[in-house]
Amino acid sequence: MEERGQWNSRLTFILAAIGSAVGLGNAWRFPGLAAKHGGGTFLVVYLAAMLVMGIPLLMMEISISRKFRKGAIESMRGIKKCWEPVGWAATSNAFVIVCYYSVVFAWVILMFVNSWQFAGMTEKSDEAANLFFKLTETTGKIEGFGIPWIVLLCLVIAWGLIFVCIRNGANSVSKVVKFTVFAPVVLLLIMAIKGCTMPGADAGLAKLFIPDPTAFSDPTLWVDAIGQVFYSLSIMMAIMFAYGSYLGDDANVAGDAVIIAFSDMAISVLSGVVMFATMGGTGMLDNITASGIGTAFVVYPQAIVNLTGIGWLNALFGAVFYLMLITLAIDSAFSIVEGVSAAISDKFHIKPKKVTIAICVIAGIISLLFVTQAGLAWLDIVDNWANNFNLIIVGVLECVAIGWTFNLRKVLAEVNKNTKRFHAPYWWFSLSVRIISPVLLTGLFVWNVVTLFVQNGGTYNPDYPIWAQIAAGWAVTVLVFASGFIAKIIINQKKKKGFVEDEVVWKD
Ligand code: PHE
Repeated sequence: MEERGQWNSRLTFILAAIGSAVGLGNAWRFPGLAAKHGGGTFLVVYLAAMLVMGIPLLMMEISISRKFRKGAIESMRGIKKCWEPVGWAATSNAFVIVCYYSVVFAWVILMFVNSWQFAGMTEKSDEAANLFFKLTETTGKIEGFGIPWIVLLCLVIAWGLIFVCIRNGANSVSKVVKFTVFAPVVLLLIMAIKGCTMPGADAGLAKLFIPDPTAFSDPTLWVDAIGQVFYSLSIMMAIMFAYGSYLGDDANVAGDAVIIAFSDMAISVLSGVVMFATMGGTGMLDNITASGIGTAFVVYPQAIVNLTGIGWLNALFGAVFYLMLITLAIDSAFSIVEGVSAAISDKFHIKPKKVTIAICVIAGIISLLFVTQAGLAWLDIVDNWANNFNLIIVGVLECVAIGWTFNLRKVLAEVNKNTKRFHAPYWWFSLSVRIISPVLLTGLFVWNVVTLFVQNGGTYNPDYPIWAQIAAGWAVTVLVFASGFIAKIIINQKKKKGFVEDEVVWKD
């Protein structure tokens, strides 16, 4: 076996984790949810969810994989053999997610390349809103198999970029994150200055920051906030296991996790400022929707063409916006591949690079489905199940496994191993891992199931045929959770041919 890759400094680990956490979710999901839930109200609840669930679970994943020096599958096996399928489920779900996250990444590249077109659309909001649909030929339904060549080209570029960044695991990631974490912040700041200096921006900022007390009573506020914390911190997705496994013994997990979580939140708020100020400045404050894709590809282009009366300047701002999204998305996209790749290569003792190539090729082929004319509809279905069902169930199982069948004090000792002033207290950690997180996540899951069946009659979106929702939703969920058991059969076969599984032990 070659030696395991390691981060070359504390900073690179923090940057890589921030890079993964800060992604498209910060740029468009967060502002959209804030708009839906009374601005400041959402910020308060989001912060609470971060403190009671996000941060402790982030610490848990990083410290466990640091101790075992293994990806998600083997780390869960190290907790107890019977939990290995949970590691597999997290890994498989991450694989599903990267199949479409790469496509959203490709769309962002597509819009960046085409942002010159905004120059000729000054004040023509309808044309701007239509650009995305024109380029991708999206039908919005489960209809159409064509793939526009330009979209295909962008997809190939997207996968090429992902591969280049992670071809040598932690070593190559260390190099790129120095750029991909700071670049979007600089671009966001430029856009925030432009947005905040427009007349009308103050109305937008007021909407973002001043809490609307009536919004507290809406239960979907809590559902959305918890979901966003999970999605945004990239936990329960095999990623933080992989990144934690490249840490050295001297890492300060408690401190690093807090830095990662608050940086992530800060960038979400900054994106909120950009979005709300710009929409306020262009008189489109009511247009912000909770749908991320709608905000980025339909609503924001309308704002772009209304920014100034000068076409080329608007186009320039459009290019800045999509370049910002490219730099935001890329380190999230490659972190998912890295999470899957580390987990598989640790399990089967295959060279990480080989696994990475295989994943890029297989996921690349599957991602073709999402660039067809029906792609957006497929993506919508898969995304709903992956995030609202699979991710949450993995979360519950991880908490139960680690909180109730393992010695949590040992985990906390790892978290606090190198802390100086700030120690994560046991009551807070155990309350979160053992009770609050599994209970709230179970509640969230039940809520989502009830919404699906009682409110919507069993369909996620009545515009899509049932067979498609079963195929891309339920069938994928079944596969994700069956993957560990299928793998077991394969492993048993391999054992007959002499394959030996690693002993994963927690050495005190
Ligand atoms: N955390 C990323 C974001 O906010 C999303 C992400 C999802 C990253 C899945 C990796 C895996 O956009």
